[in-house]
Amino acid sequence: MKIELIKSNLSKINRDCEIVFVVNKNLKHKWVVDSKALKSLNFTGTQSEVATVENRIYIGVDFSDIDDMRIASAKAIQTLNKLNFKSAKVGIYGDSDRVRAMVEGFILGNYKFDKYKSQKFESKLKKVSIALESFKAKKLKSKDIESSIESAKVIATSVNFTRDIVNSMPDELTPKELAKIAKKVAKESKLDCIIEDEKFLKKEGMNAFLAVTRASTNGPRLIHLTHKPKRAKRKVVIVGKGLTYDSGGLSLKPSNFMLTMKADKSGACATLGAIQAVAKLNLPIEVHAIIGACENMVGGDAYKPDDVLVAKNGTSIEVKNTDAEGRLVLADCLCYAQNKIKNIDNIFDIATLTGACVVALGEYTTGVMGFNEKLKESILNSSQKSGELSASLPFNKYLEKLLTSEVADISNVSSGRYGGAITAGLFLSNFIKRENRDKWVHLDIAGPAFVEKPWGYNPYGASGAGVRLLTQWLKDISK
Ligand code: BES
Ligand code: ZN
Ligand code: ZN
Repeated sequence: MKIELIKSNLSKINRDCEIVFVVNKNLKHKWVVDSKALKSLNFTGTQSEVATVENRIYIGVDFSDIDDMRIASAKAIQTLNKLNFKSAKVGIYGDSDRVRAMVEGFILGNYKFDKYKSQKFESKLKKVSIALESFKAKKLKSKDIESSIESAKVIATSVNFTRDIVNSMPDELTPKELAKIAKKVAKESKLDCIIEDEKFLKKEGMNAFLAVTRASTNGPRLIHLTHKPKRAKRKVVIVGKGLTYDSGGLSLKPSNFMLTMKADKSGACATLGAIQAVAKLNLPIEVHAIIGACENMVGGDAYKPDDVLVAKNGTSIEVKNTDAEGRLVLADCLCYAQNKIKNIDNIFDIATLTGACVVALGEYTTGVMGFNEKLKESILNSSQKSGELSASLPFNKYLEKLLTSEVADISNVSSGRYGGAITAGLFLSNFIKRENRDKWVHLDIAGPAFVEKPWGYNPYGASGAGVRLLTQWLKDISK
Protein backbone atom coordinates (compact mmCIF):
# COMPACT_ATOMS: atom_id res chain seq x y z
CA MET A 1 0.00 0.00 0.00
CA LYS A 2 1.37 3.33 -1.06
CA ILE A 3 0.91 6.39 1.15
CA GLU A 4 1.56 9.77 -0.42
CA LEU A 5 1.21 13.45 0.37
CA ILE A 6 -0.57 15.61 -2.20
CA LYS A 7 -0.04 19.32 -1.86
CA SER A 8 -3.59 20.41 -2.56
CA ASN A 9 -6.98 20.59 -0.90
CA LEU A 10 -9.00 17.47 -0.22
CA SER A 11 -11.77 18.43 -2.65
CA LYS A 12 -9.26 18.75 -5.50
CA ILE A 13 -8.18 15.13 -5.20
CA ASN A 14 -10.13 12.37 -6.93
CA ARG A 15 -9.97 8.96 -5.32
CA ASP A 16 -12.32 5.96 -5.08
CA CYS A 17 -13.20 6.77 -1.51
CA GLU A 18 -12.58 9.16 1.36
CA ILE A 19 -11.60 8.51 4.97
CA VAL A 20 -13.21 10.96 7.38
CA PHE A 21 -12.31 11.00 11.05
CA VAL A 22 -15.08 12.25 13.30
CA VAL A 23 -13.17 14.10 16.00
CA ASN A 24 -14.59 14.12 19.54
CA LYS A 25 -18.04 13.22 18.14
CA ASN A 26 -18.24 16.47 16.22
CA LEU A 27 -20.60 15.70 13.36
CA LYS A 28 -20.75 19.34 12.36
CA HIS A 29 -17.32 19.61 10.77
CA LYS A 30 -17.38 20.47 7.06
CA TRP A 31 -15.72 17.17 6.12
CA VAL A 32 -18.65 15.28 7.66
CA VAL A 33 -21.00 15.74 4.70
CA ASP A 34 -23.34 12.89 5.65
CA SER A 35 -24.36 13.89 9.16
CA LYS A 36 -28.02 13.12 8.50
CA ALA A 37 -27.30 9.66 7.13
CA LEU A 38 -24.89 9.03 10.00
CA LYS A 39 -27.55 9.96 12.53
CA SER A 40 -30.00 7.57 10.93
CA LEU A 41 -27.32 4.88 11.20
CA ASN A 42 -27.08 5.73 14.93
CA PHE A 43 -23.45 6.68 14.39
CA THR A 44 -22.30 8.95 17.19
CA GLY A 45 -18.58 9.00 16.49
CA THR A 46 -17.28 7.24 19.59
CA GLN A 47 -13.66 6.10 19.41
CA SER A 48 -13.13 3.62 16.54
CA GLU A 49 -16.83 3.48 15.64
CA VAL A 50 -17.14 3.03 11.87
CA ALA A 51 -19.86 3.81 9.36
CA THR A 52 -19.79 3.76 5.58
CA VAL A 53 -21.94 6.13 3.55
CA GLU A 54 -21.53 5.61 -0.20
CA ASN A 55 -17.79 5.98 -0.71
CA ARG A 56 -17.04 7.74 2.55
CA ILE A 57 -15.73 5.85 5.57
CA TYR A 58 -16.36 7.62 8.87
CA ILE A 59 -14.40 6.69 11.99
CA GLY A 60 -14.75 8.19 15.42
CA VAL A 61 -11.58 9.38 17.11
CA ASP A 62 -10.92 10.92 20.53
CA PHE A 63 -8.36 13.67 20.53
CA SER A 64 -7.31 13.36 24.17
CA ASP A 65 -4.88 10.49 23.57
CA ILE A 66 -2.81 10.60 20.40
CA ASP A 67 -2.63 6.80 20.29
CA ASP A 68 -6.38 6.78 19.64
CA MET A 69 -5.49 8.19 16.22
CA ARG A 70 -3.38 5.10 15.47
CA ILE A 71 -6.18 2.83 16.65
CA ALA A 72 -8.79 4.67 14.58
CA SER A 73 -6.71 4.79 11.41
CA ALA A 74 -5.90 1.08 11.78
CA LYS A 75 -9.63 0.48 12.01
CA ALA A 76 -10.19 2.59 8.87
CA ILE A 77 -7.72 0.51 6.87
CA GLN A 78 -9.16 -2.75 8.15
CA THR A 79 -12.61 -1.59 7.10
CA LEU A 80 -11.35 -0.52 3.69
CA ASN A 81 -9.63 -3.85 3.18
CA LYS A 82 -13.01 -5.54 3.24
CA LEU A 83 -14.41 -3.19 0.59
CA ASN A 84 -13.66 -2.81 -3.07
CA PHE A 85 -11.97 0.57 -3.28
CA LYS A 86 -8.54 0.84 -4.89
CA SER A 87 -7.60 4.27 -3.63
CA ALA A 88 -8.51 6.54 -0.73
CA LYS A 89 -7.96 10.14 0.30
CA VAL A 90 -7.82 11.77 3.70
CA GLY A 91 -7.13 15.17 5.23
CA ILE A 92 -4.77 16.18 8.01
CA TYR A 93 -5.93 16.11 11.62
CA GLY A 94 -3.86 18.13 14.05
CA ASP A 95 -0.09 18.60 14.07
CA SER A 96 2.71 16.55 12.53
CA ASP A 97 2.73 14.12 15.51
CA ARG A 98 -0.89 13.25 14.82
CA VAL A 99 -0.14 12.80 11.13
CA ARG A 100 2.59 10.40 12.10
CA ALA A 101 0.17 8.51 14.33
CA MET A 102 -2.36 8.34 11.51
CA VAL A 103 0.15 6.95 9.00
CA GLU A 104 1.56 4.49 11.53
CA GLY A 105 -2.00 3.34 12.19
CA PHE A 106 -2.59 2.76 8.48
CA ILE A 107 0.55 0.63 8.13
CA LEU A 108 0.23 -1.22 11.45
CA GLY A 109 -3.47 -1.85 10.82
CA ASN A 110 -2.76 -3.18 7.36
CA TYR A 111 -0.54 -5.97 8.73
CA LYS A 112 -1.51 -9.58 8.07
CA PHE A 113 0.59 -12.67 8.68
CA ASP A 114 -0.30 -15.15 5.96
CA LYS A 115 3.05 -16.87 5.37
CA TYR A 116 1.64 -20.29 6.18
CA LYS A 117 -1.82 -19.82 4.65
CA SER A 118 -2.47 -21.27 1.20
CA GLN A 119 -4.96 -18.47 0.56
CA LYS A 120 -2.98 -15.23 0.69
CA PHE A 121 -4.48 -12.01 1.90
CA GLU A 122 -4.96 -9.51 -0.86
CA SER A 123 -6.28 -6.05 -0.45
CA LYS A 124 -7.86 -4.05 -3.25
CA LEU A 125 -6.67 -0.86 -1.63
CA LYS A 126 -3.38 0.19 -3.20
CA LYS A 127 -3.03 3.86 -2.37
CA VAL A 128 -3.88 6.36 0.35
CA SER A 129 -3.41 10.01 -0.58
CA ILE A 130 -3.08 12.56 2.20
CA ALA A 131 -4.19 16.03 1.20
CA LEU A 132 -2.26 18.97 2.60
CA GLU A 133 -5.36 20.46 4.16
CA SER A 134 -5.87 20.94 7.85
CA PHE A 135 -8.95 19.86 9.74
CA LYS A 136 -8.52 22.93 11.90
CA ALA A 137 -8.00 25.21 8.89
CA LYS A 138 -4.48 25.88 10.15
CA LYS A 139 -1.54 26.63 7.94
CA LEU A 140 0.56 23.49 7.56
CA LYS A 141 4.28 23.25 6.94
CA SER A 142 4.59 20.72 4.17
CA LYS A 143 8.20 19.95 5.15
CA ASP A 144 7.15 18.91 8.69
CA ILE A 145 4.24 16.86 7.40
CA GLU A 146 6.40 15.16 4.80
CA SER A 147 9.04 14.21 7.35
CA SER A 148 6.36 12.90 9.73
CA ILE A 149 4.95 10.72 7.00
CA GLU A 150 8.43 9.45 6.15
CA SER A 151 9.21 8.69 9.81
CA ALA A 152 5.91 6.89 10.24
CA LYS A 153 6.56 4.75 7.19
CA VAL A 154 10.04 3.76 8.36
CA ILE A 155 9.00 2.99 11.92
CA ALA A 156 5.76 1.12 11.16
CA THR A 157 7.46 -0.88 8.40
CA SER A 158 10.14 -1.95 10.87
CA VAL A 159 7.44 -2.95 13.35
CA ASN A 160 5.79 -5.11 10.67
CA PHE A 161 9.15 -6.60 9.74
CA THR A 162 9.68 -7.48 13.42
CA ARG A 163 6.19 -8.98 13.62
CA ASP A 164 6.99 -11.17 10.61
CA ILE A 165 10.14 -12.65 12.12
CA VAL A 166 8.58 -13.22 15.54
CA ASN A 167 5.55 -14.89 13.94
CA SER A 168 7.71 -17.27 11.91
CA MET A 169 7.64 -20.80 13.27
CA PRO A 170 10.52 -22.14 15.34
CA ASP A 171 11.38 -24.97 12.95
CA GLU A 172 12.08 -22.38 10.29
CA LEU A 173 13.32 -19.48 12.33
CA THR A 174 16.34 -21.04 13.99
CA PRO A 175 19.30 -19.05 15.36
CA LYS A 176 21.07 -19.61 12.04
CA GLU A 177 18.10 -18.26 10.12
CA LEU A 178 17.83 -15.24 12.42
CA ALA A 179 21.50 -14.55 11.72
CA LYS A 180 20.77 -14.76 7.99
CA ILE A 181 17.99 -12.19 8.36
CA ALA A 182 20.28 -9.95 10.41
CA LYS A 183 22.89 -10.16 7.67
CA LYS A 184 20.31 -9.12 5.11
CA VAL A 185 19.23 -6.16 7.26
CA ALA A 186 22.88 -5.18 7.63
CA LYS A 187 23.46 -5.32 3.89
CA GLU A 188 20.36 -3.32 3.03
CA SER A 189 20.95 -0.70 5.71
CA LYS A 190 24.75 -0.56 5.43
CA LEU A 191 25.44 -1.77 8.95
CA ASP A 192 28.57 -3.54 10.19
CA CYS A 193 27.73 -7.16 10.87
CA ILE A 194 29.45 -9.78 12.99
CA ILE A 195 27.98 -13.27 13.35
CA GLU A 196 29.59 -15.73 15.75
CA ASP A 197 28.83 -19.35 16.57
CA GLU A 198 29.50 -21.86 19.34
CA LYS A 199 33.26 -21.84 18.85
CA PHE A 200 33.41 -18.15 19.63
CA LEU A 201 31.18 -18.52 22.70
CA LYS A 202 33.57 -21.18 24.02
CA LYS A 203 36.61 -19.04 23.33
CA GLU A 204 34.99 -16.12 25.13
CA GLY A 205 33.96 -18.15 28.19
CA MET A 206 30.26 -17.52 27.64
CA ASN A 207 29.33 -20.61 29.62
CA ALA A 208 25.89 -19.47 30.76
CA PHE A 209 24.80 -18.91 27.13
CA LEU A 210 26.44 -22.22 26.12
CA ALA A 211 24.61 -24.17 28.81
CA VAL A 212 21.22 -22.98 27.57
CA THR A 213 21.91 -23.92 23.95
CA ARG A 214 23.60 -27.26 24.66
CA ALA A 215 20.68 -29.68 24.19
CA SER A 216 19.64 -28.11 20.91
CA THR A 217 20.54 -29.48 17.50
CA ASN A 218 20.26 -25.95 16.09
CA GLY A 219 23.46 -24.21 17.17
CA PRO A 220 23.56 -20.74 18.78
CA ARG A 221 24.47 -17.45 17.12
CA LEU A 222 25.75 -14.23 18.55
CA ILE A 223 24.73 -11.39 16.26
CA HIS A 224 26.28 -7.93 16.44
CA LEU A 225 25.13 -5.18 14.06
CA THR A 226 26.40 -1.60 14.20
CA HIS A 227 25.03 1.63 12.82
CA LYS A 228 28.00 4.00 12.80
CA PRO A 229 27.19 7.47 11.49
CA LYS A 230 30.05 9.94 10.93
CA ARG A 231 29.51 12.41 13.74
CA ALA A 232 27.66 10.32 16.29
CA LYS A 233 26.34 12.19 19.32
CA ARG A 234 26.08 9.12 21.55
CA LYS A 235 26.87 5.44 21.68
CA VAL A 236 23.99 3.15 22.59
CA VAL A 237 23.96 -0.63 22.93
CA ILE A 238 20.81 -2.74 22.73
CA VAL A 239 21.00 -6.39 23.74
CA GLY A 240 18.08 -8.62 22.71
CA LYS A 241 16.97 -12.00 24.04
CA GLY A 242 16.70 -14.30 21.03
CA LEU A 243 15.30 -17.61 22.24
CA THR A 244 14.02 -18.95 18.94
CA TYR A 245 12.28 -21.52 21.11
CA ASP A 246 11.85 -21.87 24.86
CA SER A 247 10.58 -25.29 25.86
CA GLY A 248 11.71 -24.59 29.41
CA GLY A 249 14.50 -27.17 29.16
CA LEU A 250 14.48 -29.92 31.80
CA SER A 251 12.27 -27.68 33.94
CA LEU A 252 9.87 -28.29 31.08
CA LYS A 253 6.99 -25.93 30.50
CA PRO A 254 3.45 -27.35 30.65
CA SER A 255 2.17 -27.68 27.07
CA ASN A 256 -0.25 -24.76 27.24
CA PHE A 257 2.56 -22.48 28.47
CA MET A 258 5.00 -23.74 25.84
CA LEU A 259 2.66 -22.74 23.04
CA THR A 260 3.63 -19.26 21.70
CA MET A 261 7.23 -19.66 22.92
CA LYS A 262 8.37 -19.06 19.33
CA ALA A 263 7.85 -15.47 20.48
CA ASP A 264 10.66 -15.75 23.02
CA LYS A 265 12.87 -14.19 20.36
CA SER A 266 10.82 -10.97 20.43
CA GLY A 267 13.53 -8.93 22.18
CA ALA A 268 16.05 -9.93 19.53
CA CYS A 269 13.64 -9.18 16.70
CA ALA A 270 12.75 -5.79 18.20
CA THR A 271 16.46 -5.00 18.41
CA LEU A 272 16.77 -5.80 14.70
CA GLY A 273 13.69 -3.77 13.84
CA ALA A 274 14.93 -0.80 15.85
CA ILE A 275 18.41 -0.71 14.32
CA GLN A 276 16.84 -1.03 10.88
CA ALA A 277 14.64 2.00 11.59
CA VAL A 278 17.55 3.96 13.10
CA ALA A 279 19.63 3.32 9.99
CA LYS A 280 16.83 4.32 7.61
CA LEU A 281 16.19 7.49 9.60
CA ASN A 282 19.93 8.02 9.64
CA LEU A 283 19.92 9.06 13.30
CA PRO A 284 23.21 10.58 14.50
CA ILE A 285 23.69 7.93 17.19
CA GLU A 286 26.07 4.99 17.11
CA VAL A 287 23.84 2.01 17.79
CA HIS A 288 24.97 -1.53 18.49
CA ALA A 289 22.39 -4.33 18.26
CA ILE A 290 23.56 -7.47 20.01
CA ILE A 291 21.51 -10.64 19.91
CA GLY A 292 21.95 -13.88 21.76
CA ALA A 293 20.10 -16.43 19.65
CA CYS A 294 19.57 -20.04 20.68
CA GLU A 295 16.98 -22.63 21.66
CA ASN A 296 16.20 -23.93 25.15
CA MET A 297 15.56 -27.64 24.62
CA VAL A 298 15.63 -31.00 26.37
CA GLY A 299 18.02 -33.84 25.65
CA GLY A 300 20.61 -36.16 27.14
CA ASP A 301 23.14 -33.37 27.39
CA ALA A 302 20.76 -30.66 28.54
CA TYR A 303 21.94 -28.37 31.36
CA LYS A 304 20.35 -29.28 34.64
CA PRO A 305 18.84 -27.74 37.72
CA ASP A 306 21.73 -28.03 40.28
CA ASP A 307 24.38 -27.17 37.69
CA VAL A 308 26.69 -24.25 38.41
CA LEU A 309 27.67 -22.09 35.47
CA VAL A 310 30.49 -19.56 35.36
CA ALA A 311 29.48 -16.61 33.20
CA LYS A 312 31.87 -14.58 31.08
CA ASN A 313 32.54 -12.07 33.88
CA GLY A 314 33.46 -14.87 36.34
CA THR A 315 30.19 -14.81 38.31
CA SER A 316 29.08 -18.32 39.25
CA ILE A 317 25.37 -19.09 38.86
CA GLU A 318 23.45 -21.91 40.50
CA VAL A 319 20.79 -23.18 38.10
CA LYS A 320 17.63 -23.79 40.05
CA ASN A 321 15.32 -23.68 37.08
CA THR A 322 16.33 -24.22 33.44
CA ASP A 323 13.28 -22.21 32.34
CA ALA A 324 14.93 -19.04 33.65
CA GLU A 325 17.24 -19.27 30.62
CA GLY A 326 16.85 -15.82 29.06
CA ARG A 327 18.74 -14.13 31.88
CA LEU A 328 21.62 -16.62 31.39
CA VAL A 329 21.92 -15.80 27.69
CA LEU A 330 21.59 -12.07 28.38
CA ALA A 331 24.17 -12.22 31.19
CA ASP A 332 26.89 -13.35 28.81
CA CYS A 333 25.75 -11.06 25.99
CA LEU A 334 25.78 -8.05 28.34
CA CYS A 335 29.36 -8.98 29.35
CA TYR A 336 30.36 -9.39 25.72
CA ALA A 337 28.88 -6.00 24.83
CA GLN A 338 30.62 -4.13 27.66
CA ASN A 339 33.99 -5.74 26.91
CA LYS A 340 33.81 -5.26 23.18
CA ILE A 341 32.40 -1.74 23.03
CA LYS A 342 34.24 1.07 24.76
CA ASN A 343 32.75 4.29 26.15
CA ILE A 344 29.14 3.22 26.08
CA ASP A 345 26.68 6.04 26.83
CA ASN A 346 23.69 3.78 27.36
CA ILE A 347 23.05 0.08 27.41
CA PHE A 348 19.62 -1.54 27.17
CA ASP A 349 18.47 -5.08 27.17
CA ILE A 350 15.09 -6.10 25.86
CA ALA A 351 13.55 -9.48 26.54
CA THR A 352 10.43 -11.57 27.01
CA LEU A 353 11.93 -12.38 30.37
CA THR A 354 9.25 -13.19 32.92
CA GLY A 355 5.64 -14.25 33.23
CA ALA A 356 5.76 -12.28 36.48
CA CYS A 357 6.02 -9.03 34.49
CA VAL A 358 2.74 -9.88 32.78
CA VAL A 359 1.16 -10.59 36.18
CA ALA A 360 2.46 -7.28 37.54
CA LEU A 361 1.58 -4.95 34.67
CA GLY A 362 -0.90 -6.81 32.47
CA GLU A 363 -0.34 -7.98 28.95
CA TYR A 364 -0.16 -4.56 27.30
CA THR A 365 2.69 -2.96 29.19
CA THR A 366 6.49 -3.20 29.09
CA GLY A 367 8.32 -3.28 32.42
CA VAL A 368 11.14 -0.75 32.71
CA MET A 369 13.88 -1.42 35.28
CA GLY A 370 17.22 0.07 36.21
CA PHE A 371 19.13 2.17 38.74
CA ASN A 372 18.91 5.54 37.01
CA GLU A 373 15.56 7.21 37.67
CA LYS A 374 16.13 9.99 35.13
CA LEU A 375 17.02 7.54 32.39
CA LYS A 376 13.95 5.43 33.17
CA GLU A 377 11.84 8.59 33.12
CA SER A 378 13.13 9.47 29.66
CA ILE A 379 12.27 5.97 28.44
CA LEU A 380 8.73 6.21 29.82
CA ASN A 381 8.37 9.56 28.14
CA SER A 382 9.53 8.34 24.71
CA SER A 383 7.42 5.22 25.12
CA GLN A 384 4.32 7.35 25.67
CA LYS A 385 5.11 9.38 22.55
CA SER A 386 5.66 6.22 20.52
CA GLY A 387 2.27 4.74 21.42
CA GLU A 388 3.76 1.88 23.44
CA LEU A 389 2.72 1.36 27.05
CA SER A 390 5.41 1.00 29.68
CA ALA A 391 5.78 1.34 33.43
CA SER A 392 8.62 1.38 35.90
CA LEU A 393 9.16 -1.52 38.29
CA PRO A 394 11.38 -0.43 41.19
CA PHE A 395 14.39 -2.39 42.45
CA ASN A 396 14.98 -2.79 46.18
CA LYS A 397 17.56 -4.39 48.45
CA TYR A 398 15.18 -6.96 49.94
CA LEU A 399 14.31 -8.47 46.57
CA GLU A 400 18.00 -8.49 45.68
CA LYS A 401 18.73 -10.78 48.64
CA LEU A 402 16.37 -13.40 47.26
CA LEU A 403 18.94 -14.28 44.59
CA THR A 404 21.50 -15.57 47.10
CA SER A 405 22.70 -19.11 46.57
CA GLU A 406 24.15 -21.64 49.03
CA VAL A 407 26.59 -23.00 46.47
CA ALA A 408 27.35 -20.25 43.96
CA ASP A 409 27.61 -16.44 43.78
CA ILE A 410 23.97 -16.15 42.78
CA SER A 411 20.99 -18.27 41.87
CA ASN A 412 19.22 -17.96 38.53
CA VAL A 413 15.83 -17.72 40.25
CA SER A 414 14.54 -15.96 43.30
CA SER A 415 13.82 -17.90 46.48
CA GLY A 416 10.70 -15.80 47.00
CA ARG A 417 7.34 -16.20 45.42
CA TYR A 418 6.70 -12.56 44.44
CA GLY A 419 8.40 -9.82 42.45
CA GLY A 420 9.74 -12.17 39.78
CA ALA A 421 10.07 -9.48 37.11
CA ILE A 422 12.20 -7.35 39.40
CA THR A 423 14.38 -10.18 40.67
CA ALA A 424 15.06 -11.11 37.03
CA GLY A 425 16.15 -7.51 36.41
CA LEU A 426 18.30 -7.61 39.53
CA PHE A 427 19.86 -10.86 38.34
CA LEU A 428 20.94 -9.06 35.15
CA SER A 429 22.39 -6.17 37.14
CA ASN A 430 25.13 -8.58 38.29
CA PHE A 431 26.43 -8.48 34.75
CA ILE A 432 26.50 -4.73 34.39
CA LYS A 433 29.90 -3.19 35.08
CA ARG A 434 30.03 -0.67 37.92
CA GLU A 435 30.76 2.19 35.52
CA ASN A 436 27.68 1.31 33.47
CA ARG A 437 25.20 0.92 36.31
CA ASP A 438 23.51 4.24 35.68
CA LYS A 439 23.62 3.79 31.92
CA TRP A 440 21.63 0.58 31.90
CA VAL A 441 17.92 -0.09 31.52
CA HIS A 442 16.20 -3.47 31.33
CA LEU A 443 12.96 -3.79 29.33
CA ASP A 444 10.72 -6.78 29.96
CA ILE A 445 8.32 -7.19 27.02
CA ALA A 446 6.87 -10.58 28.05
CA GLY A 447 3.40 -9.00 28.16
CA PRO A 448 3.01 -6.97 24.98
CA ALA A 449 5.32 -8.93 22.63
CA PHE A 450 2.77 -11.54 21.69
CA VAL A 451 -0.95 -10.84 21.34
CA GLU A 452 -3.41 -13.65 22.00
CA LYS A 453 -6.50 -11.46 22.00
CA PRO A 454 -6.30 -8.57 19.49
CA TRP A 455 -6.07 -5.08 21.02
CA GLY A 456 -5.59 -1.61 19.61
CA TYR A 457 -3.92 -1.97 16.22
CA ASN A 458 -2.44 -5.36 17.11
CA PRO A 459 -3.94 -8.45 15.50
CA TYR A 460 -3.30 -11.97 16.86
CA GLY A 461 0.42 -12.72 16.99
CA ALA A 462 3.55 -10.65 17.38
CA SER A 463 3.09 -6.94 18.12
CA GLY A 464 6.62 -5.73 17.43
CA ALA A 465 6.79 -4.33 20.97
CA GLY A 466 9.93 -2.35 21.67
CA VAL A 467 10.63 -1.18 18.12
CA ARG A 468 8.71 2.07 18.41
CA LEU A 469 9.77 2.67 21.99
CA LEU A 470 13.50 2.24 21.27
CA THR A 471 13.41 4.14 17.99
CA GLN A 472 11.51 7.02 19.59
CA TRP A 473 14.00 7.22 22.47
CA LEU A 474 16.92 7.25 20.03
CA LYS A 475 15.11 9.89 17.98
CA ASP A 476 14.51 11.99 21.10
CA ILE A 477 18.17 11.92 22.16
CA SER A 478 19.23 12.83 18.60
CA LYS A 479 17.76 16.32 18.98
N1 BES B 1 10.28 -16.89 28.16
C1 BES B 1 9.84 -17.03 29.49
C2 BES B 1 9.02 -15.83 29.99
C3 BES B 1 7.69 -15.59 29.34
C4 BES B 1 6.54 -16.04 29.91
C5 BES B 1 7.60 -14.84 28.19
C6 BES B 1 5.32 -15.79 29.33
C7 BES B 1 6.38 -14.61 27.59
C8 BES B 1 5.23 -15.05 28.18
C9 BES B 1 11.05 -17.18 30.43
O1 BES B 1 12.15 -17.78 29.89
C10 BES B 1 10.58 -18.00 31.57
O2 BES B 1 10.20 -19.11 31.36
N2 BES B 1 10.61 -17.41 32.76
C11 BES B 1 10.15 -18.07 33.92
C12 BES B 1 11.07 -17.70 35.05
C13 BES B 1 10.88 -18.51 36.28
C14 BES B 1 11.33 -19.93 36.05
C15 BES B 1 11.66 -17.89 37.40
C16 BES B 1 8.72 -17.61 34.22
O3 BES B 1 8.42 -16.43 34.00
O4 BES B 1 7.92 -18.43 34.64
ZN1 ZN C 1 12.09 -19.89 30.00
ZN1 ZN D 1 12.39 -17.60 27.81
